[in-house]
Amino acid sequence: MTDKLIIFDTTLRDGEQSPGASMTRDEKLRIARQLERLRVDVIEAGFAASSNGDFECVKAIAAHIKDSTVCSLARANDRDIARAAEALAPAARARIHTFVATSPLHMEKKLRMTPDQVFEQARLAVRFARNLCADVEFSPEDGYRSEPDFLCRVLEAVIAEGATTINIPDTVGYAVPELYGQFIRMLRERIPNSGRAVWSVHCHNDLGMAVANSLAGVKLGGARQVECTINGLGERAGNCSLEEVVMAVKTRRDYYALEVGIDTTQIVPASRMVSQTTGFVVQPNKAVVGANAFAHASGIHQDGVLKARDTYEIMRAEDVGWSTNRIVLGKLSGRNAFKQRLQELGIESDSEADINAAFARFKDLADRKSEIFDEDILALMNDESVTPAREHYRLLAMSQRSEIGERPHARVVFAVGEREHSAESDGNGPVDATLKAIESQVGSGAELALYSVNAITSGSTESQGEVTVRLQLGGRVVNGVGADPDIVVASAKAYLSALNKLHSNVDRVAAQG
Ligand code: KIV
Ligand code: ZN
Repeated sequence: MTDKLIIFDTTLRDGEQSPGASMTRDEKLRIARQLERLRVDVIEAGFAASSNGDFECVKAIAAHIKDSTVCSLARANDRDIARAAEALAPAARARIHTFVATSPLHMEKKLRMTPDQVFEQARLAVRFARNLCADVEFSPEDGYRSEPDFLCRVLEAVIAEGATTINIPDTVGYAVPELYGQFIRMLRERIPNSGRAVWSVHCHNDLGMAVANSLAGVKLGGARQVECTINGLGERAGNCSLEEVVMAVKTRRDYYALEVGIDTTQIVPASRMVSQTTGFVVQPNKAVVGANAFAHASGIHQDGVLKARDTYEIMRAEDVGWSTNRIVLGKLSGRNAFKQRLQELGIESDSEADINAAFARFKDLADRKSEIFDEDILALMNDESVTPAREHYRLLAMSQRSEIGERPHARVVFAVGEREHSAESDGNGPVDATLKAIESQVGSGAELALYSVNAITSGSTESQGEVTVRLQLGGRVVNGVGADPDIVVASAKAYLSALNKLHSNVDRVAAQG
C-alpha cells in the first residue's frame, strides 16, 4: 500500500520573504490560482498578522481557493492567531500554522525567554488555535538545532493540545540528509502521542541540501508532508524546491513508494509565473524548470535520445509542462479568445475596463510581435507601470537617441499620480540615460542593486525582453519587472514598477523576527 505525501506550498509566505520578492494582492491571487491548478494540498497564503496588506491577501486567497487548504502563519500568541483565523474565515478548508523558536540560541538571544516560558507559550497557542480551527500546524522554529529532550517535551504537549501537523524546520539550512532523517525518526519514536499528528519537513537551502534533506526526512524519518516553494524561492539560498521534490518522488516511485496529488503538467507554467512576477530569474541549468533541463547539446546525447529517449531522459519534458510553450494568440485573435486565455491562465478580473485595457496592450504587442505565447500574456498582465490610474508611476511615452561616437540621450514622459512629468538625461548607454532621466524627476535616492535582461521566450530575437530592476532604499529591497520587445522600454517599465513597490511602502513584521 502506498502512502500519500502532502505537498505544502509556501511560495506566498516563506518564498515572499526573499528580499525584493514581495507581491501585490492581485499577483498573489494569480499565483494561488496556479497553485490550485497544480493541485498542491496546502497553500500557505501569508502571515495575516504581519501587515494589513498580508491580511487582505490571505483573506482574498481564502475566498477564492476551493480545492486546496489555505493556511496562514501566526506567531504563538493570541493576537496573531485570532488575526489568522479572521483572514481564513472565508476558506473552504483552513489551517492555522503557529510557531515559536525552541533552539537554545533562539530562545536565549532572540526571544529572551526561558525554555519553560516557551513550552507554556507553545501549548497555550495551540490550545487557542484549536478553538478557532480544526486544522492546526505547529512549528518549533530552528527545530533542527533544538535540544532533543526539550523538543520532545514541547511536541508531546502541543499534540496533546490538538496540533494536527508537526513541522520540523531546519530554519538555517544546517542539516545534512542522514542526520535530519534520523532526527525526525527519533522524534517520532520518542514522543508517545506522535502517531496522532502528520509529520512535516521544512528545509532551507543554505548548503544546497534542502531537497535532499526533505527527501531524507520523508524516507528515513517517515514525514508525510513536505514544505516547499516554486523554483525554491525563499530567503537567502531559498527553500526546498517543489518541482524537484515532486519529480524525485514521482520519478523514483520504486524507491519512495508514495503518491503525490500534483498535476505535474502545471509545474513549468507555475515556475514561469513565479519568476515573471517576482523578477527572480530561473537559472538555465535548474533541475526540471531550467531552460536547459531537457536540452541535449552533445552529439552523443542527441543521437541517443533520437534512437530511444530514455537513453538520456529520466522524465518527459511534456510531463512537467514544457509543451505549453506554444503560440496561443496572434494579431487576428479577438477579445473573447484573449479573455478566455486569461481565464485559463488563472487571471480573472471583474472589471471590463481592465480587460479592455489589457486587450489594447495585447493588440499593440501583437502588431509588433507575430507570435504571442503564454509568457507574453503573463508579462502583459504584470505590466503595472502602464495600468491606468492604479499605479502611482506610469510610463506614458519615451524616446532615445544612440549613435556610435555620440553620448546616448533619453526623454521619458511619465505620470506621477495625476501629474504628467517629462524628463531628459544622457548616459553611458540608452538604458542608463533612460533610468537617469526618470530618477532626475523622482529623486527616490534608491540604490540600483541589480539590473538584468532576459528573453521571455527562447529561440528568436523577436522575443520580448524581460528586465528586472532591484532597488534598495533604507533597508527595503524591491524588485520591479518590465517586459517589451524594446529592452530600453522594458527597462523604463521595470524601473517604474520598482518605484511603485517602494511607494506602496508595506510595513511587515518579519516571520522569523
Ligand atoms: O524556516 C522556518 O523556521 C520557518 C518557520 C516560520 C516555519 O519558516
Ligand atoms: Zn522557513
